[in-house]
Amino acid sequence: MSHPRFADIGACVFDAYGTLFDFGTAAAKHRTELGDKADQLTQLWRTKQLEYTWLRSLMGAYTDFWVVTRDGLDYALAALGLDKPGLGDRLMSAYLALGAYPEVPAMLKALKAAGQRTAILSNGEPAMLAAAVRNAGLESLIDEVLSVDSLGIYKPHRSVYQLAVDRLGVPARRISFHSSNAWDAAGAAHFGFRVAWINRFGQKPERLPGAPDAELRSLAELPALLGLS
Ligand code: LAC
Repeated sequence: MSHPRFADIGACVFDAYGTLFDFGTAAAKHRTELGDKADQLTQLWRTKQLEYTWLRSLMGAYTDFWVVTRDGLDYALAALGLDKPGLGDRLMSAYLALGAYPEVPAMLKALKAAGQRTAILSNGEPAMLAAAVRNAGLESLIDEVLSVDSLGIYKPHRSVYQLAVDRLGVPARRISFHSSNAWDAAGAAHFGFRVAWINRFGQKPERLPGAPDAELRSLAELPALLGLS
């Protein structure tokens, strides 16, 4: 995929989990307890967490992302035979203090130095997102944190992407959106954002409507895409 420069951008909007914050750091912190199942747990936990967001949205049965994350974790721990006392609580605490990917602080500093507005648009429940931003030391680098919680439905529902347009006061075509989740990148592109898919994991493109405008290996490449370096 070619990398067209994104021009005339009014706001830079980021997905949270998997894009800015490495959800793998939760299980990694407890690797001694999880043993060789730590990576499997990370994968299954994430898969069930996302499935539950989509299923609850279709069912009209929203509950916030903290609960959905716990439900996904409980499923994964049971499926992998890891249901030890207190382990679920310890992993949920770790989820509040996920590390940011290494390139994130410098990338955000470059955007802020160039006068860009920065925002998170996430499934995360507001207190979870605030904890993640604080723990990663990103408070001064993120201008707005927007959560689906006020809408009661999850990505990729169009109303979620519309929330960014409404709250930032920037039209969709002037929003540069960045997600490592290919399905989120597709949803955002279908909605009308300029989208860079941060393909950290070398995944294949989704067969969904909405093609990203650019594909990057990490967020370190974003300032150049925006013409800032
Ligand atoms: C989020 C999930 C999708 O932060 O990663 O919205």
